[in-house]
Amino acid sequence: MLSHEKIEKNVGLMIVLTVLTVSVGGLVEIVPLFFQKSTTTPANELVKPYDPLRLVGRDIYIREGCYNCHSQMIRPFRAETERYGHYSVAGEFVYDHPFQWGSKRTGPDLARVGGRYSDLWHREHLLNPRNVVPESNMPAYFWLDRPLNEPHVQDKMRALRKVGVPYTDAEIAGAFDAIKDKTELEALIAYLQGLGTAIKQAR
Ligand code: HEC
Repeated sequence: MLSHEKIEKNVGLMIVLTVLTVSVGGLVEIVPLFFQKSTTTPANELVKPYDPLRLVGRDIYIREGCYNCHSQMIRPFRAETERYGHYSVAGEFVYDHPFQWGSKRTGPDLARVGGRYSDLWHREHLLNPRNVVPESNMPAYFWLDRPLNEPHVQDKMRALRKVGVPYTDAEIAGAFDAIKDKTELEALIAYLQGLGTAIKQAR
């Protein structure tokens, strides 16, 4: 008979049964998410693939390591929704590959920072955060005010299309025109200004 005593006195059996239990529990929780509409389809019609400028700005965000200090996921707690707006929902991130949720918050969450400040504020803030927030300890990114050099924007869009982002041929063909004569700073600001705007801020 398989009694508790037998399992607890047999390390090998204990390991096998533990792994089995945890695996079944994990699969039951995780697998349905791959088939649930609320996690696999856009939250609403305003959730759109990043236009070329924002896409490139997003890569600058990743390159500069902004995610080391900023999360992009508002949890469904009062303290968070009062401060940042509506909590994040999975359907807002269907075109994010990879997503930038993060968990480290040296600075504030940026999931709904879009539209909170003017472009000019972001410009001043990124070039030197102390210009607008005297007590800030965010690093200055003064080098971003330089021409955007992104020869791979079309390749990136094609790669994203392979994982399900519905870019049209026309959008890909027009990508170079869309980012022409822009600076890295402008691309990054365009990205920030789009964050979280599909679901209206609850404030
Ligand atoms: C070392 C940590 C750190 C890094 C790295 C960092 N930040 Fe920050 N960030 C902060 C802190 C702290 C604040 C709050 C003070 C302030 O507004 O400057 C902040 C504030 C912000 C804000 C204003 C948010 C709000 O709601 O008021 C934005 C936008 C922002 N950061 C964008 C960026 C971007 C883009 C990058 C990468 C280029 C970046 N940050 C990198 C620490 C960081």
